[in-house]
Amino acid sequence: MSHHIVAVQDLHYTYADGTPAVQGISFRIEHGESVAIVGANGAGKSTLLRHLNGYLTPQHGTVQIGDFALSKELLPQVRRTVGMLFQDPDDQLFMPTVRDDVAFGPLNLGLPPDEVEDRVTAALQRVGAEHLADRPPYRLSSGEKRTVAIATILSMQPQILVMDEPSSGLDPAARRRLIELLASFHHTRIIATHDLDLVLDLCTRTIVIHQGKVMADRPTLEIFDDADLLRRSHLEAPLRLQSCPICTKRLPPHRDPEAHHHDDLVEPHSHA
Ligand SMILES: Nc1ncnc2c1ncn2[C@@H]1O[C@H](COP(=O)(O)OP(=O)(O)OP(=O)(O)O)[C@@H](O)[C@H]1O
Ligand SMILES: [Mg+2]
Repeated sequence: MSHHIVAVQDLHYTYADGTPAVQGISFRIEHGESVAIVGANGAGKSTLLRHLNGYLTPQHGTVQIGDFALSKELLPQVRRTVGMLFQDPDDQLFMPTVRDDVAFGPLNLGLPPDEVEDRVTAALQRVGAEHLADRPPYRLSSGEKRTVAIATILSMQPQILVMDEPSSGLDPAARRRLIELLASFHHTRIIATHDLDLVLDLCTRTIVIHQGKVMADRPTLEIFDDADLLRRSHLEAPLRLQSCPICTKRLPPHRDPEAHHHDDLVEPHSHA
């Protein structure tokens, strides 16, 4: 797998109770791209993502990771390549301590104990969770659980990151750390989220899912500029792209909102 592309072709998935969650999704993501998957609650984002590491098997269509279409035989290789953060951290954490959970993947790879320990320490440091190492995961707060779940992925050193709502429930400092971490990851990133400010920071391309189908797949700024599309997909432009609440001046993209307020309150439009 020299190039970590992710290609989905005409994917369909209907749950056992008859709910059609994914109804013909196709896209191709090149190595190194950072892509947001956005859409309303129930649009099918998590169902789609669960196919990207083989947790769900396509009922119709294909999922290609690197050079190969995903199959049962390739699952171990794909799970080494794709680091998957589930929407619910309880699906990811099952060992007696946080340290054991973060070590679980590297131990399964058969790495020597020293290297496992180094990876665990580095991953916990990276997410700022060293102090949680000896705690039982099921006793953590929901934001702590998510932070630790992210560490369990980092310790695997994956080449493709697939994250389902990674910033949900994180406090502002933990969210900022996550954004910096994702910005410094130069391989492929696929992020399903309702945090559109995070999308603006990290993703140059956005795929909008609506009722199990791709409603749009365009550069992020184009998506956020399309008021009609946003409304139809139950989305809102990120706060930074909305008008200043005091004077209705539209904020420029990719600007730190604090800097905006600082600039704008000084000049050119003080509200005095
Ligand atoms: N285990 C399940 N059994 C039956 N239906 C399911 C199951 N999981 C999800 N669904 C349904 O499949 C559809 C897509 O759900 P999915 O979780 O993929 O949406 P989502 O876009 O991730 O939503 P959210 O933004 O709320 O996380 C919804 O109609 C949902 O009710
Ligand atoms: Mg979801």
